Amino acid sequence: MESKDPETGRWNQDCIRCHATHGIPQITDEGVDTTVGELGIACEACHGPGAEHIAANSAPSRRYLEHLGANDGDPTMVNPDRLDSDRSAQVCGNCHGLAIFQEPADMKEWMTGGYKFRPGDDLQAVRHVLEVDYDDPVVKRVLKDQPYALDDRFWSDGMVRVGGREYAGFVRSACYTHGALSCVSGHEMHREPDDKRPLEEWLDDQLAEDAVQDGACVDCHALEGRQGEAHTHHAPGTTGAACYDCHMPPTTWGLLKGIRQHEIDSPTVAVSLETGRPNACNMCHLDKTLAWTAEHLGAWTGDVQPELTTKEQEIAASILVDPGGRGRPARADGLGDGLGRRDRDQRGQRLDGSLAGPPHGRPLRRRAARVGAFPAPRRWLQGHRVRLHGSPCGARGGLQVDLLPLERAAAHPHRPGAGAG
Ligand code: HEC
Ligand code: HEC
Ligand code: HEC
Ligand code: HEC
Ligand code: HEC
Ligand code: HEC
Repeated sequence: MESKDPETGRWNQDCIRCHATHGIPQITDEGVDTTVGELGIACEACHGPGAEHIAANSAPSRRYLEHLGANDGDPTMVNPDRLDSDRSAQVCGNCHGLAIFQEPADMKEWMTGGYKFRPGDDLQAVRHVLEVDYDDPVVKRVLKDQPYALDDRFWSDGMVRVGGREYAGFVRSACYTHGALSCVSGHEMHREPDDKRPLEEWLDDQLAEDAVQDGACVDCHALEGRQGEAHTHHAPGTTGAACYDCHMPPTTWGLLKGIRQHEIDSPTVAVSLETGRPNACNMCHLDKTLAWTAEHLGAWTGDVQPELTTKEQEIAASILVDPGGRGRPARADGLGDGLGRRDRDQRGQRLDGSLAGPPHGRPLRRRAARVGAFPAPRRWLQGHRVRLHGSPCGARGGLQVDLLPLERAAAHPHRPGAGAG
């Protein structure tokens, strides 16, 4: 691929990882021969290869027995609902996560053979979920090649902050590490036939009908008395009373909007001060100060609240945006506010050991400017062949690449490269 244009081929080697089923880039010195099982997120992306299932069920007698419930779920096909919560979440995490290859060789293998991971496999065995851990050898290796890999992607306490990477936050939630919460506890990928909600409502986040409001949480937490106004201090059924209002606020950024955080935690003023991340309370109560929030949280929980500066006591938290938080080291040249490590680096500054965590805070304005400069989607496919190859569910004759969804994508792009590796 002789091209000086860094965007040429991006679809073939980047977007294809999550926006196609079983994509294989096959970008070599000889040229580009990209293949996909199917364009888009098709059955086998979540259910795994279907050949065995099709072969087994070619016999009508078996189909009938399965219909009668012979196996309590057909064992020839993976169903994320029947996997344990780890394996189930990993099905989604392969695309909704921030993961990198374990070994450099895995990257090469992917380029020529596609992902080794199949639904039901252990994702962690073949991919490495990216976390802010500067001692982790895999992270060290990545930072050597891409010094900015953690910048922008994480808040300074390690909470993920790019949208569409829900799994990277989810795996840090106590409900998952100490409980059996999985993605399908809240989401359903096929709308139930008796779902009374309008299609659009289901499509928005594909939540199971009983998971809207508190359903995904109270199975495990009701007994602790977390339900009801005594805990939420908001009238039941109103905005601000649902579990995810406070425990999953939209603190990841993507698709030009805030998207709900999937690392489940509780709002505190101290964390906002430390990281610059807005707390759930002030994300709704835009006109209120941090002091107002501290006062209520103090009264509700009895916890001692942090000391606040005059500004923090008098100016609404939504205006007092400090994208880096107090955790960000001060800069000698006074250019620090809102600049990430990449900017520092470009100014030839030394990356010294004082950077305990990634400095954050590219202002949204800059980010929007970058998104605006996103290349026209036609260029991603330009000059590249994409073949649909024989996958049991996806075998189709001929190829018609419909550019319309890609054109639409141009109107709502998310930042290229946000998924490392
Ligand atoms: C690591 C997996 C991954 C990669 C790589 C990836 N995406 Fe995505 N993308 C996602 C996920 C997951 C979503 C859904 C995000 C959400 O709704 O929170 C998404 C959403 C989108 C959307 C919005 C779709 C909609 O219907 O609103 C666009 C556009 C998009 N991606 C474009 C791209 C482009 C262009 C590339 C390549 C430069 C790319 N993506 C690479 C996982 C990925
Ligand atoms: C994004 C992931 C995803 C995709 C894509 C997907 N499914 Fe599913 N499928 C699931 C999950 C998760 C379940 C469990 C029930 C639910 O969430 O709706 C499921 C359940 C099913 C079931 C019910 C199985 C049972 O034992 O009751 C069938 C049948 C099924 N899917 C077929 C398909 C077919 C056919 C396609 C393609 C047209 C497809 N699925 C695409 C995730 C997916
Ligand atoms: C092959 C990659 C892939 C897999 C596997 C996958 N997703 Fe997605 N998912 C995506 C992409 C890409 C999008 C954005 C698609 C678009 O809008 O065009 C998306 C969109 C979504 C959305 C819609 C977000 C919105 O805009 O409201 C939800 C919810 C979701 N996925 C949940 C899941 C769950 C749960 C699983 C596992 C059962 C799963 N996904 C498996 C790639 C994947
Ligand atoms: C499958 C059971 C289960 C489900 C469902 C569940 N949780 Fe949890 N959650 C737990 C367990 C277990 C813990 C850890 C409790 C402990 O360590 O004492 C926990 C911890 C928490 C914490 C404390 C987290 C922290 O790090 O301090 C919050 C807040 C929470 N859950 C909220 C929620 C919300 C909101 C939902 C719904 C989106 C939810 N949970 C769904 C099991 C669950
Ligand atoms: C208006 C905001 C708000 C809503 C809504 C809310 N919570 Fe909380 N929750 C908090 C705050 C603040 C804390 C931390 C202080 C405390 O322990 O009460 C907390 C703590 C928790 C904890 C314990 C965390 C720990 O550190 O031990 C759990 C579990 C929890 N909430 C579950 C739920 C569930 C389940 C729902 C929905 C039924 C819910 N919350 C709705 C604000 C809220
Ligand atoms: C999803 C949005 C949302 C979240 C998150 C939220 N609230 Fe509210 N809150 C509301 C709404 C809406 C009202 C009712 C509007 C009103 O009466 O002014 C309200 C009312 C209140 C009130 C009573 C009215 C007032 O202004 O004195 C207090 C106090 C309050 N919230 C504090 C909090 C605190 C503290 C948190 C975080 C633990 C929080 N809220 C989280 C939306 C939210």
